[in-house]
Amino acid sequence: MRFSGTSLTIAGCLLASISEASKSSSASSSCQLHNVETYPPPPVPEPISIIKLPLPPSIVSDEVGACTKDINPNGTGCLRIVLTGDDSLPQGGTFTPDGTAIVVTVNFTGAPAQPDPASIYSGEHIILLKTDNTTFSSGDPWKCITCGVPAASQLGRNKDLLDYPRVFKDGKRFLVGTNIVETGGYPVDSELVTPNNTYIYPIYWPVTGDGSGSTGAMRELRLHPGDHHLSWSSFDGNGQNSFYGRLTFNPVPTTGEPRVPRYDLSNVSILQPATGNGVLYAEGNELKINQSVPEIGELRGFSGSGKEFTYIGYPMEACNFDGFAVNLLTGAVRRLTSHPEYVDPMDISADDEWTAVLDTRGTDRQMFMSGMRGIPPLSDLVTSGICASVRNNGMRRFFRPILIDKYGDRGDYFGQTINAGGDGSPGSINDPNWNARADPQFSLDGTRLMYYETLVKTPACGGENPLPCPVSTEPDGRTTRIMIATFTSRKPYPVPKFDIGPDVIPWAIPYVPGMELPVRQSISPGKYTYKGKHCGYADVAIYANANSTRFNRVRVDLHNLSEDGENILNGFEDISLEYLDTWTVLNDWRSNIVQRGKVKGVKETSPGGFQIQMNLRKNLLEANGTLTTTLDGKTYYQPKNNA
Ligand SMILES: *[C@@H]1O[C@H](CO)[C@@H](O)[C@H](O)[C@H]1NC(C)=O
Ligand SMILES: *[C@@H]1O[C@H](CO)[C@@H](O)[C@H](O)[C@H]1NC(C)=O
Ligand SMILES: *[C@@H]1O[C@H](CO)[C@@H](O)[C@H](O)[C@H]1NC(C)=O
Ligand SMILES: *[C@@H]1O[C@H](CO)[C@@H](O)[C@H](O)[C@H]1NC(C)=O
Ligand SMILES: *[C@@H]1O[C@H](CO)[C@@H](O)[C@H](O)[C@H]1NC(C)=O
Ligand SMILES: *[C@@H]1O[C@H](CO)[C@@H](O)[C@H](O)[C@H]1NC(C)=O
Ligand SMILES: *[C@@H]1O[C@H](CO)[C@@H](O)[C@H](O)[C@H]1NC(C)=O
Ligand SMILES: *[C@@H]1O[C@H](CO)[C@@H](O)[C@H](O)[C@H]1NC(C)=O
Ligand SMILES: *[C@@H]1O[C@H](CO)[C@@H](O)[C@H](O)[C@H]1NC(C)=O
Repeated sequence: MRFSGTSLTIAGCLLASISEASKSSSASSSCQLHNVETYPPPPVPEPISIIKLPLPPSIVSDEVGACTKDINPNGTGCLRIVLTGDDSLPQGGTFTPDGTAIVVTVNFTGAPAQPDPASIYSGEHIILLKTDNTTFSSGDPWKCITCGVPAASQLGRNKDLLDYPRVFKDGKRFLVGTNIVETGGYPVDSELVTPNNTYIYPIYWPVTGDGSGSTGAMRELRLHPGDHHLSWSSFDGNGQNSFYGRLTFNPVPTTGEPRVPRYDLSNVSILQPATGNGVLYAEGNELKINQSVPEIGELRGFSGSGKEFTYIGYPMEACNFDGFAVNLLTGAVRRLTSHPEYVDPMDISADDEWTAVLDTRGTDRQMFMSGMRGIPPLSDLVTSGICASVRNNGMRRFFRPILIDKYGDRGDYFGQTINAGGDGSPGSINDPNWNARADPQFSLDGTRLMYYETLVKTPACGGENPLPCPVSTEPDGRTTRIMIATFTSRKPYPVPKFDIGPDVIPWAIPYVPGMELPVRQSISPGKYTYKGKHCGYADVAIYANANSTRFNRVRVDLHNLSEDGENILNGFEDISLEYLDTWTVLNDWRSNIVQRGKVKGVKETSPGGFQIQMNLRKNLLEANGTLTTTLDGKTYYQPKNNA
């Protein structure tokens, strides 16, 4: 037993405040201490410089011809500014292999009518944007790749949103939405790329037994760094499922529609463990948690090397969503983040040493519900919808870019806030009214990170909202901006050689076109106990609607429970769930949990409880009563309704 801090005993449990840099496994007579891996000390914060990339001139009007020669003398298009609601475009994508440009999805507007050559700058397109302060031969730092591509060169292309653009490592193609764009065998940023040698091919995923019909519905496509495989998500009645498969160009398809040159997916895996229990499972009347099960809630893509999938997983602590990675071949799971705030978009550097995440940490938005550490993730059976949705206010995200080393959050280390260097003034790099959007992207030499942001806009500000709407300080009053963070003390490394991904994911379920998707295992309603990993236990009661497997209430009574060996929890949470319609959920929440040990805390609801209602698509919070979490004397409150 090796403690470099103090230790104390409460309720028959030996609790230790262990020096984070040198945790070691140990045991005491009264409690089994869990194994704690040994991690190196956290890195020291590093210098980061941030620039904004120039974008095409931007206008508010959608009128034909609104993008005049006065506004863009070079006739290379104007971008659309959105003043209310959502503007997810322009959306920054990956760097080209040499790092001199990024791919970006934009929405051109106000183009003149044909036959004006500028008429091609209309609607959703992909541009390349220089990141090195140089320009294309036009004199512009941008160049549209998909504008003006002849109809015959984009036969049967999928019409979904052209989102998440990703350049292949061969530099000569990019994935965007559910299509692949090829640039005539030239690097995508070559001056030799013209509309006449650019082709847009649809991606086709066969989902019928006989190979007939159109592609299965795919979203959130991500490119494996070995260039030959994709991952994607798909929704059915059971929710979100994740897939991985091989990508092959098929010049003359003989099955399925459209029968045009296309990229076909084969050797598809459903990214669910083929055998064994879920993270949360029952053995008799004991509930157990297995942190080694890759239970993918939302797939995010691949690690830098492509050896792992990244995803948002089943929580390891109540109401605390985190990022995880699972090895494609071995199924080994790593927890990348543990901060109580909400994380989602992420990217891992090509050498797998660094993770960049977009997270609400630092905004204290979720702390009132997730701030108390070490509550086992049991009430999540009824709260996950709400716990995942408080992060947004309508279209407004509260994400900030965070840099974390490969060992993840640990002890008092919660990464480095990448944009912390500003003065907080309107338009500064850390102006809280500018919020990051999915996804951040590392350059392949590890020295830079692209992230992009949108400005809060009505109805998430202004009117009855307590937050007045800010006025954009960006060129043309633009409400999106693309940022490049440079890690100035780092030496660029050569672009690594990336291995082609495997065709078989040994731990996953092979997908056979036409098959019913397997339903994930769940536990049955009933009364259970849960043993703390360190000591103590919880009584758990799980209820479901009559004749339904949908849970409608979870009560957890904590008895001197300790998961981490550092803190001990007593008290209860009793939360019911009601679906008011398909997307609107209501949690009636009662909590009174007292934490002792390293951190002293209370998580409690007001008399009469806390009723929180949200439409999970619109992300608007409406609550009566309060839920607060107080940690070492600091109290965190819920956001105001609709704020
Ligand atoms: C919890 O610990 C306290 C002492 O700190 C003790 O009085 C109580 O009986 C314990 N409760 C249980 C259920 O073990
Ligand atoms: C692009 O702009 C047009 C109007 O010019 C709008 O109708 C369309 O919804 C926009 N597309 C996206 C994806 O924002
Ligand atoms: C970009 O180039 C201009 C003109 O060549 C120069 O003045 C400016 O300092 C450069 N900016 C950066 C960030 O390199
Ligand atoms: C238009 O192109 C010229 C060079 O031909 C360049 O100097 C100028 O910056 C470009 N205009 C814009 C708005 O980028
Ligand atoms: C593309 O091809 C058409 C038809 O051959 C030709 O008229 C046009 O000039 C070409 N455009 C470019 C940019 O090469
Ligand atoms: C991948 O799919 C192809 C086409 O269905 C098949 O011929 C091949 O055997 C599969 N490879 C593996 C490793 O399963
Ligand atoms: C936990 O899950 C892993 C991965 O599925 C499995 O190998 C292991 O046996 C499980 N542990 C227990 C105790 O069930
Ligand atoms: C549940 O199913 C049983 C048997 O089918 C039926 O008699 C009962 O009315 C159902 N209860 C509800 C609430 O639907
Ligand atoms: C809050 O209380 C008001 C007034 O009683 C009621 O109309 C509303 O539905 C309640 N909202 C929630 C989320 O309970």
